Amino acid sequence: MAHQLVIVLDFGGQYNQLIARRVRECGVYCEVKSYQTPIEEIKKLNPKGIIFTGGPNSVYEETSPHITKEIFELNIPILGICYGAQVIAYTLGGTVSPCDTSEYGKTDTHYDNSSILFGGINLPETASSWMSHTNYVSKLPDGFRRTAYTTNCPFAAFENAEKKFYAVQFHPEVNHTFAGQGMIDSFVKNVCGCVGDWTMAGYAKTAIEEIRAKVGDGKVLLALSGGVDSSVAAALLAKAVGNQLTCIFVDHGFMRKNEGDEVEQAFKNSGMNFIRVNAKKQFMAKLQGVSDPETKRKIIGEEFIRVFEQESKKIGKVDYLVQGTIYPDVIESGLGDAAVIKSHHNVGGLPDYVDFKEIIEPLRMLFKDEVRKLGTELGLSPVLVWRQPFPGPGLAIRIIGDITDEKLAILQDADFIFRQEIAEAGLDSDINQYFAVLTNMRSVGVMGDCRTYDYTVALRAVTTSDFMTADFAKIPYDVLAIVANRIVNEVKNVNRIVYDVTTKPPATIEWE
Ligand code: XMP
Repeated sequence: MAHQLVIVLDFGGQYNQLIARRVRECGVYCEVKSYQTPIEEIKKLNPKGIIFTGGPNSVYEETSPHITKEIFELNIPILGICYGAQVIAYTLGGTVSPCDTSEYGKTDTHYDNSSILFGGINLPETASSWMSHTNYVSKLPDGFRRTAYTTNCPFAAFENAEKKFYAVQFHPEVNHTFAGQGMIDSFVKNVCGCVGDWTMAGYAKTAIEEIRAKVGDGKVLLALSGGVDSSVAAALLAKAVGNQLTCIFVDHGFMRKNEGDEVEQAFKNSGMNFIRVNAKKQFMAKLQGVSDPETKRKIIGEEFIRVFEQESKKIGKVDYLVQGTIYPDVIESGLGDAAVIKSHHNVGGLPDYVDFKEIIEPLRMLFKDEVRKLGTELGLSPVLVWRQPFPGPGLAIRIIGDITDEKLAILQDADFIFRQEIAEAGLDSDINQYFAVLTNMRSVGVMGDCRTYDYTVALRAVTTSDFMTADFAKIPYDVLAIVANRIVNEVKNVNRIVYDVTTKPPATIEWE
């Protein structure tokens, strides 16, 4: 069944995927496309609405992303956000100028509730919006009226309701904007006329049909790590193609303590073809002396594929390789217009040559919380669905500097203690991801009257809903004290524990 679609045209901001997510939270299917998508293609997609995103540029610079006027002649509602609002003004004959005073962060905003965007969502006349801009619209194009303003931004929102063009200088997709989700909901439902026909059950059904049509009677191979993404992908593929699917669990040796055995236990008797490959030696050999994070990621990504190639040869010809890549992996690997942050495992780290007909990534369009919903929809056990995320390269990117067996053992033990104590304190469902990192810093300590010179372990724990932004978890001091005490006493070669109190951004969740 074809769903109603809203498209987000990406002008290069870092958080554009959030807009798509917010639209989908309204029950409306949404995809992100480049701002350069040809008009003909947009017409074919037949969207009910188009959203222009923010971006880092200034519209009046020639090299900045611009859009053809034709897009305004398609009779499709448009919402411009931040840079997107400026694009609307600039393209239709308004003026964009540098701000006298830039606005950044929560900003008191005065709304005109006669706008369809703001009326009916219990928005007070003055409320906080999240601003981040150094340019602003200083003169509106003909036919537009102002619908919001701030002290330093005369046109914080404007619209041409007759033509269904709406623009907001602030970011409604960010939680800090009061009732921002309601504004997006008003746009997609009240302006675009979407009914909200996008559900996880519908997504699962369509995905299964598409996979069947693509795979036919071909053989499918899946990389199963036991994490949420690959487990959900496995469940989806198993429903679609049954025993045409073989799941291979490459144990690269960088799993958490006991985890390799746990994954094997969980899947071995699940009815699917399950193979565990113990490849630690092979990975360690390639990583000997390597300390650069990006190099580690690339090596592990490539080695993964090689192991699959070797394994697939043993089980006969394989047509498709499935990977549990999800949306944030795609965008943070710089495949959109945003800057490269990290080469995520299975995305940027993929070698040019892969000995399979095609790669299938059935979760590529989903955010983490959507993947969990899909897993539940598919009947996966809550233990797997709610497992905290674990990066493909595993503990290799939680050991800063080069990797040795000794460091790996230290980290596994420290991490195990941390996880045990978080569970013991009943905090595991409040913290979205928590783990230990082995820094390559050593410092002086004292133990039993003797000097020690040992490693520092960092504890990282975050709360987040989308893993694109995160706050550090406010773990009670007494819990941290128990964890620290146990690690320094029970794990050899560690004499200092620190707790990471940075948010993302500017830090990322992982240390590498
Ligand atoms: P960062 O460190 O980029 O992490 O803030 C965001 C989320 O992604 C996970 N992560 C990965 N997941 N392959 C994955 O499947 C990877 O290479 C990878 N690197 C980071 C990270 O654990 C966090 O949940």
